[in-house]
Amino acid sequence: MQDLSFRSTYAHTGDGRRALGSLIRDIFGIEISSLDRLGHDPSVLAFGWWSGEHLVANVSVYERQLWLCGRRVKAFGVQSVATRPDWRNRGLFRDLFGRALAYADQRADLIILSTGTPDLYRRFGFRQIEEVRFGSETPAGTLSEGCRELSLERDDDLSLIIQAFAHREPTSLLASACDHPALFMLKAKLTSEIKLFHLKKLNAVVAVKQNESSLTILDIVAACIPSVAQIVGALGFTGLRTEVHLTPERLSWQPEEKEAVDNGYMVRGPFAPEGQAFMLSDMTI
Ligand SMILES: CC(C)(COP(=O)(O)OP(=O)(O)OC[C@H]1O[C@@H](n2cnc3c(N)ncnc32)[C@H](O)[C@@H]1OP(=O)(O)O)[C@@H](O)C(=O)NCCC(=O)NCCS
Repeated sequence: MQDLSFRSTYAHTGDGRRALGSLIRDIFGIEISSLDRLGHDPSVLAFGWWSGEHLVANVSVYERQLWLCGRRVKAFGVQSVATRPDWRNRGLFRDLFGRALAYADQRADLIILSTGTPDLYRRFGFRQIEEVRFGSETPAGTLSEGCRELSLERDDDLSLIIQAFAHREPTSLLASACDHPALFMLKAKLTSEIKLFHLKKLNAVVAVKQNESSLTILDIVAACIPSVAQIVGALGFTGLRTEVHLTPERLSWQPEEKEAVDNGYMVRGPFAPEGQAFMLSDMTI
């Protein structure tokens, strides 16, 4: 680590965010600069090794608010794990991840992350957990009152989403996430098939993917959680099949099918619903 300097105070400065954005773009091909407009999660803490003003390796942690088996649980998530190719295999990730874990361990019992490379994390005590997708024939819609598609380009729609997050109820008490809206909006911004709708009468924001024959409900942000039949009705969806990528016990709906999926989640520490059929949310990067 000769010639490198360690920093952890850059996640909320303009230069720091630009350096982090450029690392994420170079390593993952993802553009996160839209967060400057959508809003950053203030709980993010980045740990990095720098060569001058060049960020060469990073690990970030952020606070997560989860509902697990009836309890509200503060946990930490891990994101933006990357070392530039010229600096790999020198122990930079191992060093930064050790620091990030020490920080999170002092503040929470549970750390949760999503990865395509689970072997990287096993040695640090992480274990894989499986999620479940729920599906059925589309129930008859119970509400025909309309909806409006939201645009992340419109200031009033951004405010509406942020307000909805401020007052949101958990979609499930068994397993759900009530995190900061930053990743929810970034996911919608980066994924053209994801549409956000405001269901007026229900005062709910829903994130969905849909085509003529199928609807997938990815998240529901509302002070009073509507049923699947109400959402279907408000969207005016008449296709055959509905999928829900949330734990559905509060949605007044009986899924006919459950499909286990590996979304790459790993946990370290107690995770109460482990082994049960749940999905936290698909609106994460
Ligand atoms: C994964 C990554 C962050 C490792 O960074 P690094 O600074 O080179 O890591 P280190 O030098 O600290 O190596 C740590 C150990 O992890 C191992 N490792 C590296 N990549 C790995 C992978 N994909 N799967 C399993 N182990 C891996 C290394 O072999 C090393 O093992 P060792 O301690 O037995 O020698 C880096 O390769 C990278 O940026 N990859 C692309 C982005 C990515 O995959 N990020 C993680 C996704 S969540």
